[in-house]
Amino acid sequence: MKYFIGNWKMFGIPKSINILNKINSFYTKDKNRSKYKVVFTPPYTLIQSYSRYFKKKKINIGSQNCYQKDKFSSNTAAVSPYMLRTVGAKYTLVGHSDNRSEGDNDTILKNKVELALRNKLKVVFCIGENKIQKRNKKTLSVLKRQLTKVLDKKFNKNNIIVAYEPIWSIGTGKIPKLNELNKTVLHIKKILKKIFRKKSPPLLYGGSVDGKNAGIFKEIKEIDGFLIGGASKSSKKFIDIIKNYYR
Ligand code: 13P
Repeated sequence: MKYFIGNWKMFGIPKSINILNKINSFYTKDKNRSKYKVVFTPPYTLIQSYSRYFKKKKINIGSQNCYQKDKFSSNTAAVSPYMLRTVGAKYTLVGHSDNRSEGDNDTILKNKVELALRNKLKVVFCIGENKIQKRNKKTLSVLKRQLTKVLDKKFNKNNIIVAYEPIWSIGTGKIPKLNELNKTVLHIKKILKKIFRKKSPPLLYGGSVDGKNAGIFKEIKEIDGFLIGGASKSSKKFIDIIKNYYR
Protein backbone atom coordinates (compact mmCIF):
# COMPACT_ATOMS: atom_id res chain seq x y z
CA MET A 1 0.00 0.00 0.00
CA LYS A 2 1.27 3.46 -0.93
CA TYR A 3 0.40 6.72 0.82
CA PHE A 4 -0.12 10.20 -0.59
CA ILE A 5 -0.32 12.51 2.41
CA GLY A 6 -1.04 16.20 1.94
CA ASN A 7 0.21 18.49 4.71
CA TRP A 8 -1.47 21.87 4.47
CA LYS A 9 0.61 23.55 7.21
CA MET A 10 -0.89 27.03 7.88
CA PHE A 11 -3.33 26.95 4.99
CA GLY A 12 -7.06 26.48 4.67
CA ILE A 13 -10.48 27.80 5.66
CA PRO A 14 -13.82 25.96 5.65
CA LYS A 15 -14.45 26.42 1.92
CA SER A 16 -11.02 24.98 1.04
CA ILE A 17 -12.81 21.64 1.36
CA ASN A 18 -13.51 22.07 -2.37
CA ILE A 19 -9.88 21.13 -3.02
CA LEU A 20 -10.31 17.83 -1.17
CA ASN A 21 -13.64 17.18 -2.83
CA LYS A 22 -12.01 17.26 -6.25
CA ILE A 23 -9.28 14.91 -5.09
CA ASN A 24 -11.91 12.58 -3.61
CA SER A 25 -13.79 12.48 -6.94
CA PHE A 26 -10.59 11.66 -8.79
CA TYR A 27 -9.72 8.96 -6.28
CA THR A 28 -13.10 7.24 -6.42
CA LYS A 29 -12.76 6.86 -10.21
CA ASP A 30 -9.04 6.13 -10.42
CA LYS A 31 -8.28 2.61 -11.70
CA ASN A 32 -5.24 2.51 -9.41
CA ARG A 33 -7.17 3.42 -6.27
CA SER A 34 -6.72 0.06 -4.56
CA LYS A 35 -2.97 0.67 -4.54
CA TYR A 36 -2.88 3.77 -2.34
CA LYS A 37 -4.43 5.77 0.48
CA VAL A 38 -4.96 9.53 0.57
CA VAL A 39 -4.58 11.40 3.85
CA PHE A 40 -4.77 15.15 4.48
CA THR A 41 -3.62 17.09 7.51
CA PRO A 42 -5.43 20.43 7.54
CA PRO A 43 -4.95 22.85 10.46
CA TYR A 44 -6.64 22.08 13.81
CA THR A 45 -9.50 24.48 12.99
CA LEU A 46 -10.75 22.25 10.16
CA ILE A 47 -10.26 18.74 11.50
CA GLN A 48 -13.73 18.25 12.94
CA SER A 49 -15.73 19.55 9.98
CA TYR A 50 -13.55 17.83 7.39
CA SER A 51 -13.53 14.51 9.27
CA ARG A 52 -17.32 14.56 9.43
CA TYR A 53 -17.63 15.40 5.78
CA PHE A 54 -15.20 12.68 4.65
CA LYS A 55 -16.34 10.05 7.14
CA LYS A 56 -17.91 7.82 4.49
CA LYS A 57 -15.61 8.96 1.71
CA LYS A 58 -12.11 7.90 0.82
CA ILE A 59 -9.95 10.70 2.16
CA ASN A 60 -8.63 10.30 5.69
CA ILE A 61 -8.10 13.31 7.91
CA GLY A 62 -5.25 13.77 10.34
CA SER A 63 -3.54 16.39 12.41
CA GLN A 64 -0.21 18.15 11.83
CA ASN A 65 0.88 17.76 15.43
CA CYS A 66 -0.41 16.94 18.90
CA TYR A 67 0.51 17.93 22.43
CA GLN A 68 2.53 15.57 24.63
CA LYS A 69 -0.20 15.08 27.22
CA ASP A 70 -2.89 12.49 27.11
CA LYS A 71 -6.27 14.04 27.71
CA PHE A 72 -6.72 17.47 29.29
CA SER A 73 -4.15 19.76 30.88
CA SER A 74 -3.54 23.39 31.80
CA ASN A 75 -1.32 24.12 28.78
CA THR A 76 -2.71 27.11 26.91
CA ALA A 77 -3.42 26.47 23.20
CA ALA A 78 -2.42 22.80 23.43
CA VAL A 79 -4.42 20.06 21.71
CA SER A 80 -4.04 16.48 22.93
CA PRO A 81 -4.19 13.23 20.95
CA TYR A 82 -7.38 12.37 22.84
CA MET A 83 -9.03 15.61 21.74
CA LEU A 84 -7.99 15.00 18.14
CA ARG A 85 -9.36 11.49 18.17
CA THR A 86 -12.73 12.65 19.48
CA VAL A 87 -13.14 15.06 16.53
CA GLY A 88 -12.37 12.35 13.99
CA ALA A 89 -8.62 12.56 13.30
CA LYS A 90 -7.21 9.18 12.24
CA TYR A 91 -3.57 10.21 11.82
CA THR A 92 -1.14 12.71 13.27
CA LEU A 93 2.22 13.94 12.10
CA VAL A 94 4.86 13.97 14.84
CA GLY A 95 8.29 15.55 14.59
CA HIS A 96 7.85 17.73 11.52
CA SER A 97 10.96 19.89 11.16
CA ASP A 98 8.81 23.02 11.66
CA ASN A 99 7.96 21.77 15.15
CA ARG A 100 11.41 20.43 15.92
CA SER A 101 12.74 23.92 15.22
CA GLU A 102 10.21 25.28 17.71
CA GLY A 103 11.50 23.07 20.49
CA ASP A 104 10.22 19.52 20.00
CA ASN A 105 13.12 17.36 21.18
CA ASP A 106 13.48 13.57 21.27
CA THR A 107 11.96 13.21 24.74
CA ILE A 108 8.90 15.27 23.82
CA LEU A 109 8.57 13.44 20.51
CA LYS A 110 8.68 10.06 22.18
CA ASN A 111 5.87 11.14 24.50
CA LYS A 112 3.86 12.37 21.55
CA VAL A 113 4.25 9.11 19.63
CA GLU A 114 3.33 7.04 22.66
CA LEU A 115 0.25 9.10 23.53
CA ALA A 116 -0.94 9.36 19.93
CA LEU A 117 -0.75 5.57 19.56
CA ARG A 118 -2.54 5.09 22.87
CA ASN A 119 -5.35 7.28 21.53
CA LYS A 120 -5.58 5.18 18.36
CA LEU A 121 -4.04 7.71 16.01
CA LYS A 122 -1.70 6.47 13.31
CA VAL A 123 1.59 8.30 13.66
CA VAL A 124 3.52 9.75 10.73
CA PHE A 125 6.91 10.28 12.35
CA CYS A 126 9.04 12.81 10.45
CA ILE A 127 12.82 12.81 10.34
CA GLY A 128 15.41 14.59 8.22
CA GLU A 129 18.81 16.28 8.17
CA ASN A 130 19.48 19.96 7.62
CA LYS A 131 21.79 21.51 5.03
CA ILE A 132 24.82 21.74 7.31
CA GLN A 133 24.48 18.15 8.50
CA LYS A 134 24.26 17.06 4.88
CA ARG A 135 27.30 19.11 3.89
CA ASN A 136 29.25 17.55 6.79
CA LYS A 137 28.20 14.07 5.66
CA LYS A 138 26.25 13.48 8.86
CA THR A 139 22.96 12.53 7.20
CA LEU A 140 23.01 8.83 8.08
CA SER A 141 24.08 9.33 11.69
CA VAL A 142 21.52 12.11 12.24
CA LEU A 143 18.72 9.92 10.90
CA LYS A 144 19.83 6.99 13.01
CA ARG A 145 19.76 9.13 16.13
CA GLN A 146 16.35 10.62 15.33
CA LEU A 147 14.90 7.13 14.83
CA THR A 148 16.48 5.27 17.72
CA LYS A 149 15.88 8.03 20.31
CA VAL A 150 12.15 8.07 19.66
CA LEU A 151 10.88 4.82 18.18
CA ASP A 152 10.63 2.00 20.66
CA LYS A 153 10.20 -1.67 19.90
CA LYS A 154 7.17 -1.74 22.19
CA PHE A 155 5.30 0.65 19.85
CA ASN A 156 2.84 -0.98 17.47
CA LYS A 157 4.62 -0.77 14.12
CA ASN A 158 1.35 -1.31 12.26
CA ASN A 159 0.26 2.16 13.36
CA ILE A 160 3.51 3.94 12.51
CA ILE A 161 4.64 5.46 9.24
CA VAL A 162 8.02 7.15 8.91
CA ALA A 163 8.49 10.17 6.64
CA TYR A 164 11.98 11.13 5.52
CA GLU A 165 11.98 14.86 4.81
CA PRO A 166 15.42 16.41 4.27
CA ILE A 167 15.01 19.94 5.65
CA TRP A 168 17.00 21.49 2.80
CA SER A 169 14.49 20.05 0.36
CA ILE A 170 11.31 21.33 2.02
CA GLY A 171 9.78 24.12 -0.06
CA THR A 172 12.97 24.70 -2.04
CA GLY A 173 12.32 22.78 -5.26
CA LYS A 174 15.47 20.74 -4.57
CA ILE A 175 15.29 16.96 -4.28
CA PRO A 176 18.04 14.49 -3.37
CA LYS A 177 20.04 12.75 -6.09
CA LEU A 178 18.48 9.38 -6.78
CA ASN A 179 21.53 7.33 -5.76
CA GLU A 180 21.88 9.28 -2.51
CA LEU A 181 18.20 8.94 -1.72
CA ASN A 182 18.35 5.22 -2.42
CA LYS A 183 21.24 4.83 0.01
CA THR A 184 19.48 6.90 2.68
CA VAL A 185 16.21 5.02 2.29
CA LEU A 186 17.95 1.64 2.62
CA HIS A 187 19.75 2.92 5.72
CA ILE A 188 16.47 4.05 7.32
CA LYS A 189 14.74 0.74 6.54
CA LYS A 190 17.65 -1.19 8.00
CA ILE A 191 17.39 0.75 11.26
CA LEU A 192 13.63 0.34 11.34
CA LYS A 193 13.93 -3.40 10.82
CA LYS A 194 16.34 -3.55 13.69
CA ILE A 195 14.02 -1.63 16.01
CA PHE A 196 10.87 -3.48 14.99
CA ARG A 197 12.27 -6.99 14.61
CA LYS A 198 12.48 -7.56 10.87
CA LYS A 199 9.37 -5.77 9.66
CA SER A 200 9.75 -2.07 8.85
CA PRO A 201 6.85 0.36 8.94
CA PRO A 202 6.12 2.15 5.62
CA LEU A 203 8.62 4.85 4.66
CA LEU A 204 7.55 8.03 2.85
CA TYR A 205 9.61 10.68 1.16
CA GLY A 206 8.79 14.38 1.56
CA GLY A 207 10.37 17.55 0.21
CA SER A 208 9.43 19.41 -2.98
CA VAL A 209 7.45 16.50 -4.43
CA ASP A 210 5.45 17.64 -7.46
CA GLY A 211 3.83 16.28 -10.62
CA LYS A 212 7.05 16.61 -12.56
CA ASN A 213 9.36 14.69 -10.25
CA ALA A 214 6.88 12.13 -8.82
CA GLY A 215 7.70 9.56 -11.50
CA ILE A 216 11.42 9.62 -10.66
CA PHE A 217 10.78 8.19 -7.19
CA LYS A 218 9.19 5.08 -8.67
CA GLU A 219 12.68 3.75 -9.22
CA ILE A 220 13.16 3.39 -5.48
CA LYS A 221 10.94 0.48 -4.54
CA GLU A 222 11.48 1.01 -0.81
CA ILE A 223 9.62 4.34 -0.90
CA ASP A 224 6.05 3.69 0.19
CA GLY A 225 4.60 7.10 -0.63
CA PHE A 226 4.92 10.82 -0.13
CA LEU A 227 4.37 13.63 2.31
CA ILE A 228 3.41 16.60 0.19
CA GLY A 229 3.39 20.23 1.30
CA GLY A 230 3.08 23.01 -1.30
CA ALA A 231 1.57 20.84 -4.05
CA SER A 232 -1.18 19.58 -1.72
CA LYS A 233 -2.87 22.98 -1.70
CA SER A 234 -3.99 22.51 -5.31
CA SER A 235 -6.20 19.62 -6.35
CA LYS A 236 -4.65 19.61 -9.82
CA LYS A 237 -1.07 19.48 -8.55
CA PHE A 238 -1.88 16.77 -6.02
CA ILE A 239 -3.73 14.67 -8.61
CA ASP A 240 -0.83 15.15 -11.05
CA ILE A 241 1.53 13.58 -8.52
CA ILE A 242 -0.66 10.47 -8.27
CA LYS A 243 -1.17 10.28 -12.05
CA ASN A 244 2.50 10.64 -12.83
CA TYR A 245 3.49 8.16 -10.17
CA TYR A 246 1.31 5.45 -11.70
CA ARG A 247 1.95 6.30 -15.33
P1 13P B 1 6.98 20.77 0.34
O1 13P B 1 6.31 19.68 -0.43
O2 13P B 1 6.31 22.10 0.17
O3 13P B 1 8.45 20.82 0.07
O4 13P B 1 6.81 20.43 1.89
C1 13P B 1 7.14 19.19 2.37
C2 13P B 1 6.67 19.08 3.77
O5 13P B 1 7.21 19.68 4.67
C3 13P B 1 5.51 18.23 4.04
O6 13P B 1 5.37 17.99 5.39
